[in-house]
Amino acid sequence: MARLPLAACVAVAFHLFLLASSSSATTGAGRDGRTAYHFQPAKNWQNGPMYYNGLYHFFYQYNPHGALWDIGNLSWGHSVSGDLINWASLENGLDPTAPFDINGCWSGSATILPDGTPVILYTGIDANKSQVQNVAFPKNPGDPLLREWVKPEYNPVIPLPADVPGDNFRDPSTAWLGRDGQWRVAVSAEVSGVASTLIFRSSNSNSTAGDDDYHQFPFRSWERNPAPLHSSKASGMVECPDLFPVKVKGKDGLDTSANGFGVKHVLKLSVMDTLQDYYMVGEYDDTTDKLVAAEPERGDDVRRWRRLDYGHVYASKSFFDARRNRRVLWAWANESDSQADDVARGWSGVQTVPRKVWLDKDGKQLRQWPIQEVESLRRTLVGVRKTVLGAGAMNEIVGVGGSQVDVEVSFKIQSLDAAELLNANEMLDPQQLCGQKGASVPGGIGPFGLIVMASGDLHEHTAVFFRVFHYNSTYKLLMCTDLTRSSTKAGVYKPPYGGFVDIDVEEHKKIKLRTLIDHSVVESFGAGGRAVITARVYPEHTATNSSHLFVFNNGTDAVRVSKLRAWELAPASVNIADNGLILSKILKQQSES
Ligand SMILES: *[C@@H]1O[C@H](CO)[C@@H](O)[C@H](O)[C@H]1NC(C)=O
Ligand SMILES: *[C@@H]1O[C@H](CO)[C@@H](O)[C@H](O)[C@H]1NC(C)=O
Ligand SMILES: *[C@@H]1O[C@H](CO)[C@@H](O)[C@H](O)[C@H]1NC(C)=O
Ligand SMILES: *[C@@H]1O[C@H](CO)[C@@H](O)[C@H](O)[C@H]1NC(C)=O
Ligand SMILES: *[C@@H]1O[C@H](CO)[C@@H](O)[C@H](O)[C@H]1NC(C)=O
Ligand SMILES: *[C@@H]1O[C@H](CO)[C@@H](O)[C@H](O)[C@H]1NC(C)=O
Ligand SMILES: *[C@@H]1O[C@H](CO)[C@@H](O)[C@H](O)[C@H]1NC(C)=O
Repeated sequence: MARLPLAACVAVAFHLFLLASSSSATTGAGRDGRTAYHFQPAKNWQNGPMYYNGLYHFFYQYNPHGALWDIGNLSWGHSVSGDLINWASLENGLDPTAPFDINGCWSGSATILPDGTPVILYTGIDANKSQVQNVAFPKNPGDPLLREWVKPEYNPVIPLPADVPGDNFRDPSTAWLGRDGQWRVAVSAEVSGVASTLIFRSSNSNSTAGDDDYHQFPFRSWERNPAPLHSSKASGMVECPDLFPVKVKGKDGLDTSANGFGVKHVLKLSVMDTLQDYYMVGEYDDTTDKLVAAEPERGDDVRRWRRLDYGHVYASKSFFDARRNRRVLWAWANESDSQADDVARGWSGVQTVPRKVWLDKDGKQLRQWPIQEVESLRRTLVGVRKTVLGAGAMNEIVGVGGSQVDVEVSFKIQSLDAAELLNANEMLDPQQLCGQKGASVPGGIGPFGLIVMASGDLHEHTAVFFRVFHYNSTYKLLMCTDLTRSSTKAGVYKPPYGGFVDIDVEEHKKIKLRTLIDHSVVESFGAGGRAVITARVYPEHTATNSSHLFVFNNGTDAVRVSKLRAWELAPASVNIADNGLILSKILKQQSES
């Protein structure tokens, strides 16, 4: 196979600054699977993002006392960035200090008011161990870092309703303004035993004046809509509701309050029972606060909605990035090895790369793609042009280190004649199908894809691949990430992940795959971001050896690789090395912009 190492290419086209790219030694990347460019705090446990006055802020669930989730000790960690890639950590944004949050500051969201003032709504665990919704304001909105937050005494602004149990009322969404001038916020609640997404409205919505007079502030009083936005008996408790508008045409994002012609809405919910995120697209009417699904046949059971990611993510959240006019979504990817490993490492959990999200032309599914700033980390490029992969082919991509890589590949299917037949039962569980028909089970069209994080002897490897099936006189494209051989370590969760990609294969015979590899994270975007699979991997060979990367085909039909490019990625500065230096660069850049 052709090897074509090109000169290191550093992106300069974007409005961003390259921070001192610290070496792995100073970032700790690679050690125990610590990532090099995914967001994670310096240490300990983590779980709403916002763009304000030239800077990105990220708040996260943080346990200052240990690596595990500790019900009584959750604070809001706070980091800032100029580019969503390099982060400096600040003091905690919120700590449990008041009667309305003394037992923990749980999830919430930031909202930017029309005059530019940010407001936080969050769940506090009060002195009675009940979940209540609180508000917090920046002490000094002129401070670009928004270091200090004030929690007014009149909290909670939304006390526990009488028909909701104290342990199931949480996660206020970003608020949005209806055309009637009232703000709305969505909150997850169990109402008389039914998982519901409640809407609360606030009319004292105008913005601030005095520094100390919090009575003037918005979001002080809220009234509950009689009907929930959504409820389902079947799916069990849901969390982290996110309702956001998307354009019917184009990839640009919309501010959370946008509505009207050419706008649809997405409701995303996180289901505790399955620990997965699901979404549906619909028409949201802000006079009645009703959402009418574009695919009513999927029903109310959230578990039948579309999956945001077929892999290992939960509690995703999006925000409107006014700087680049896009909607950015992040999700949390927890560890898949044991809690004892988390404690030994001293941290657990990472965020996925920030993803731009938009509505596909079909009006039903979201597309997701790593934000363009990720490309600023691209260094050595290896390219391959027009290769044919015959049955059983497995070609190494040499020249990029195997554990910090961004690889994009386009596969071209020649004909669909050899597609394997699928029966109705096999259709039901794509994840199981990925296990039964793994990379080492030869097929007709596929499996073809990438082998990543592979040891030299291939005892450890992770396969990311596609396979085409024939079902009920149409064609189905399956995308899988198979972890069953990802690690020889004991106690690691190593499932096959997968889902059907919603694409007309007869029309799109070219199938693109982009995979971001970052030590313990393998994040793959199939068919232009129509299907995404995030996986956590813990290979043992990385302690002593480097990892290998391959492109392969195990189908009887040859597959053309029309393009393959792989970049080694530089580490980003994420919350640990040179925090002060990074902070001063971020501030300097912010004041110049
Ligand atoms: C919070 O952390 C402190 C210090 O580690 C510990 O003593 C305390 O028991 C924790 N609180 C709860 C409710 O777990
Ligand atoms: C705890 O519950 C009691 C009795 O319902 C109530 O009087 C008190 O205000 C509650 N405390 C808090 C912090 O909500
Ligand atoms: C803003 O709030 C103040 C105090 O509640 C009220 O007097 C004023 O009319 C409000 N302004 C608008 C534009 O709603
Ligand atoms: C991580 O998530 C998985 C499921 O996605 C869950 O089974 C596991 O308990 C979680 N691990 C920790 C340490 O929270
Ligand atoms: C392709 O299939 C053969 C036969 O099962 C197997 O030996 C080989 O490891 C497979 N290739 C990959 C990349 O799994
Ligand atoms: C590590 O590298 C050495 C030297 O190249 C090789 O002999 C050995 O098989 C490798 N180990 C693994 C697990 O790949
Ligand atoms: C097969 O396809 C037809 C036409 O699209 C559809 O009406 C039917 O429900 C499908 N059958 C199954 C079992 O999916």
